[in-house]
Amino acid sequence: MRGFILGVLITLVVLFGGVFLYLKLGMLDIRAAQPISGIEHEMAEMAMDSSVDKQAPHTENPIKPTDDNLMTGAMLYEKNCSLCHGSVADPNHTSPMAQAFYPHVPQIVKRIPGDEDWHLFFVTKYGVRDTGMPAWEKTMKDDDIWRVVTFVKHSDKLSPTVQEMWQTYGTPSGVAPAPAKPAK
Ligand code: HEC
Repeated sequence: MRGFILGVLITLVVLFGGVFLYLKLGMLDIRAAQPISGIEHEMAEMAMDSSVDKQAPHTENPIKPTDDNLMTGAMLYEKNCSLCHGSVADPNHTSPMAQAFYPHVPQIVKRIPGDEDWHLFFVTKYGVRDTGMPAWEKTMKDDDIWRVVTFVKHSDKLSPTVQEMWQTYGTPSGVAPAPAKPAK
């Protein structure tokens, strides 16, 4: 029994020591600009889905998809999310920033996520750590987060009024306008 416990301890020390050295010797490539590793992506996606499923309250979306709510959702989306997730003003709704992150940013109005509203609400409110996805809990009220979620989910079936407003309001994302030349 003592031999077994010693064996387990030595294995743990070797494992942790190995990971520590790997990181300490600079062997982990921290660049965001590199091909996405398939297995890392699969594992991270599984961890995220399981975590959200366990932690998020499975509540119903309190916001109805009325034109008013969808317009507010569209505006909030363009202002806060389109830079990364794609704007109506970008060809194909794809942001130039889509591939700039590790993991890449899903283009959520081009390919609307099939997840439940509460899942999207939870991810938006609390963000996803170790990715570029920020937490919006301090900058957006819960009802407004629900409005953005409602807009994303309905973005392929907007009424002409909302569609027109979104089209007018949308700005190409990811490219900052050139600063004005200082007056001489
Ligand atoms: C600075 C870039 C950035 C901004 C701004 C941003 N996101 Fe994200 N978002 C990301 C990244 C990167 C991911 C991918 C995370 C991952 O793969 O786990 C992500 C993932 C998500 C997901 C999960 C999609 C899925 O299919 O599981 C949702 C939902 C989401 N974001 C909503 C939003 C909303 C709503 C806003 C605006 C209020 C927003 N994001 C703003 C970078 C951003």
